[in-house]
Amino acid sequence: MQTVQLPCELRAQIKEYKRQGKRVGFVPTMGNLHQGHLTLVERAKEHADVVVVSIFVNPMQFGNPDDLNNYPRTLEQDLAKLEAFGTAMVFTPTPEVIYPKGLENQTFVEVPKLSSMLEGASRPGHFRGVATIVTKLFNLVQPDVACFGEKDFQQVAVIRQMVEDLAMDIEIVPVPTVREQDNLAMSSRNNRLTAEERAIAPGLSKVMFEMADELLKAPLETQAVIAKGEQAIKAAGMQADELFICDALTLTEVTSETEEAVILVAAFLGSVRLIDNTVVKLA
Ligand code: PAF
Repeated sequence: MQTVQLPCELRAQIKEYKRQGKRVGFVPTMGNLHQGHLTLVERAKEHADVVVVSIFVNPMQFGNPDDLNNYPRTLEQDLAKLEAFGTAMVFTPTPEVIYPKGLENQTFVEVPKLSSMLEGASRPGHFRGVATIVTKLFNLVQPDVACFGEKDFQQVAVIRQMVEDLAMDIEIVPVPTVREQDNLAMSSRNNRLTAEERAIAPGLSKVMFEMADELLKAPLETQAVIAKGEQAIKAAGMQADELFICDALTLTEVTSETEEAVILVAAFLGSVRLIDNTVVKLA
């Protein structure tokens, strides 16, 4: 496995893969890798001849400087895991390499509507930061296919829209959320839970799946399902932050035409904000 920090080194190797006629798969990450990320690498391997992974904690997508500074950085362990999973190359650029003129002077990519709704409404600039870094990484890696976890449901929607709108010739493969045995969605944030909080955390997915059952009984009663979900999250020992139920295709209101809805949940457990989602087939 090759690890490179500089765009010129990355480009030289990508050029060589392309010369050899190899299909390049790509998994962008911010490191602190868990089984969810490694599943993305496995999926990418199924769609490509070589897999490139990037590890870059992207300052442009963080609203809060403390969150950026406290983001866990575990490069050595990450590289060992990627090597064991047959990754061909890892790109680990520094912020100075990615944003040489500073964030304020960086050209950005913004997907309208999708970036400002739901999660984007409370995190202004977040999806602009994601779309911009993913575009830049796509331009550097030039992948044929890229894998993204469905755990970040809105992020996948933003990237798909961006790829379509900007005519990027890249296949986007969404990969289902990987869960622990007790159904907690895998996340780098789970490492920050105390033992007591870790025992409470699976309550979030339990409530979410109960909401899915409720929604199936009354698909248009989304507000009632959300209100019940909020109470159940509180009863489970967490603080509901944001709960949405929307059309899984458009991320707008559920209507009688909606074939698949998505339930998106976010809750605080101590200082950790957990997120999860599930798609509910209505038709
Ligand atoms: O999902 C993530 O880890 C990040 O948002 C991504 C896609 C690597 C962009 O920084």
